Amino acid sequence: MSGMDEKDKLVVRSQAGWGKTFEEIVAQRLQRRDFLKSSLAVSTVVVAGTVVAKPELAEAQTASVPRFGAVTPTAPEVDEIVVSDGYYSRTLIRWGEPLTPDAPEFDVWNQTAEAQSRQFGYNCDFVGFYPLPFGSNASNRGVLAVNHEYTNPELMFPGYDTDNPTRNQVDVEIAAHGMAMVEIERAPDGAWSYNRNSRYNRRYTGFSGMAVSGPAANHPWLRTNADPTGSTVLGTLNNCAGGKTPWGTVLTAEENFHQYFANLDGLAQGDPRYAVHRRYGMPSEGSDRKWERYHNRFDIAQESNEAFRFGWMVEIDPYDPTRTPIKRTALGRFRHEAATITVAPNGQVVAYTGDDARFEYVYKFVSAGTYNPDNREANFGLLDEGTLYVAKFNDDGSGEWLPLVYGQGPLTAENGFTSQGDVLVKTRLAADALGATKMDRPEDIETNPVNKKVYVVLTNNTRRGRENQPGVDTANPRPKNANGHIIEISEAGNNHAATTFTWEIFLLAGNPSEDATTYFAGFDKSQVSPIANPDNITFDLAGNLWIATDGAARSINFNDGIFAVPTEGAQRGNLKQFFAAVRGSEICGPEFTPDNRALFVAIQHPGEGGTFEEPISTWPDKQGLPRPSVVTVQAFDSRIIGR
Ligand code: FEO
Ligand code: CA
Ligand code: CA
Ligand code: CA
Repeated sequence: MSGMDEKDKLVVRSQAGWGKTFEEIVAQRLQRRDFLKSSLAVSTVVVAGTVVAKPELAEAQTASVPRFGAVTPTAPEVDEIVVSDGYYSRTLIRWGEPLTPDAPEFDVWNQTAEAQSRQFGYNCDFVGFYPLPFGSNASNRGVLAVNHEYTNPELMFPGYDTDNPTRNQVDVEIAAHGMAMVEIERAPDGAWSYNRNSRYNRRYTGFSGMAVSGPAANHPWLRTNADPTGSTVLGTLNNCAGGKTPWGTVLTAEENFHQYFANLDGLAQGDPRYAVHRRYGMPSEGSDRKWERYHNRFDIAQESNEAFRFGWMVEIDPYDPTRTPIKRTALGRFRHEAATITVAPNGQVVAYTGDDARFEYVYKFVSAGTYNPDNREANFGLLDEGTLYVAKFNDDGSGEWLPLVYGQGPLTAENGFTSQGDVLVKTRLAADALGATKMDRPEDIETNPVNKKVYVVLTNNTRRGRENQPGVDTANPRPKNANGHIIEISEAGNNHAATTFTWEIFLLAGNPSEDATTYFAGFDKSQVSPIANPDNITFDLAGNLWIATDGAARSINFNDGIFAVPTEGAQRGNLKQFFAAVRGSEICGPEFTPDNRALFVAIQHPGEGGTFEEPISTWPDKQGLPRPSVVTVQAFDSRIIGR
């Protein structure tokens, strides 16, 4: 920690008011880790009163750390993808490419919502590979499920006027949101392509019909003039990341939905809905996108309940185009980044999901029923019944999952909660009442399939520790956290349905050559790549963590990247950059094929910061407009990536 001014020294304060320096906290965590490691080496270890099975991983993992040459980080002006030596990247599918035989070819000068609803959408985020046929472990053919999080109209339309978007532009934008399903195939020479004639191909947009299920279905606040039952919604919006269920569906996350709504101040402040909309960040006046000018449902003054129908997790079946998407309200309502699924030892299904806003919370849902691997259809109601929990990270490295159950603790009528559905519609307020830990913007949260630990990605929070804002705590130990961090959770007994856990800091991101507060699981920082703003993660077959970033150009002055880092063994924390993205973009996905010989990467908002008339990127085609696209990465010799 040399080179730090006294005033910059991180002091961690708990709710009890004691203070510890950052070095002390890290040292404490490291001692705990060493204790666990030495105990594991003997046989078993008792954590929080339960016995953890003896891991049989150590040998396999030291033999399978990612092997590739680190990419040199690229400057924010670089408009070309760079991958590690021995690998190559190819564009698979771009914004606007036709998904059906009758879809028009992309024509930027003649865009319509009708055309866009049959073409690949904008700003691809989540990428899920679903092997074909269903039930196989195929790596050469599958359905790619891709989220289209949002639109950059200033890059999409010639002559776009921020103050006066046209009806056609707004409708194209709504149609460019949502999801795409597209069948893809790898040829024997390794080249991937999509099949325009596949029966699996389709789009879901901000206009598509969706059902609502679970405890908040039919809630009075979900009823609108267009849908007096509160059970059918038009569209899904701001689909950021997501997750894959063991029964082969996708969970797509409605994240920053507040930005589509307008005129909260048209609702009386005494109306009980006002405070809830306020807590969810609805704009007081007009929205930046101005969709409300053409669609009343986005105007809270005219349709006060439409916004309650967004902010959910939506389950969609990539394998069955006839199945209606369903908003699963049991998983709560907030700015969902993603929801990733793990099956607990007794078969209960566990979904980890975070609320990506400053000082918001980490959640998990545990199903009441159990997963049935022999009957796909039997699993479709699993996400409707169960318990939603919110995380409390204690300063001593323990943690608790606090149940958001109507009638329990403060979640009663006295405090304004009228039913379980009501608790879910107001999830943020319920979590406030329980005293959950306010985090530094939870992004992806995913279970390592090899060591069973859960990795919680926190992308940044520059407001922590500022005046009138929450200060640091041990789980969020840096004030003005510009670079983000990752927490590693061990559920009690390695049971993901448990209600207690232990945790430690895995990564404090940043450029280690300039930032003494960085931490790479204790690994020698002089050997690692700089990284900032972790967002999406995945794991390879060996349990190494792969991290995609969003925002590094602003925080450490490099393009965003993909990084691999071992989570176990002597190389734990030895983080290396594998991939560098292009100017103005963030990186999403990432997703491996089951054989780990291909990696899918979404390049979102290339050229953000420019305009249609004055672009700062021409990626991916080195001419014309920047176009959000999904790319593949493979080795020239087809090896398993990182082996
Ligand atoms: Fe859409 Fe949380 O990133
Ligand atoms: Ca994200
Ligand atoms: Ca992920
Ligand atoms: Ca992000």
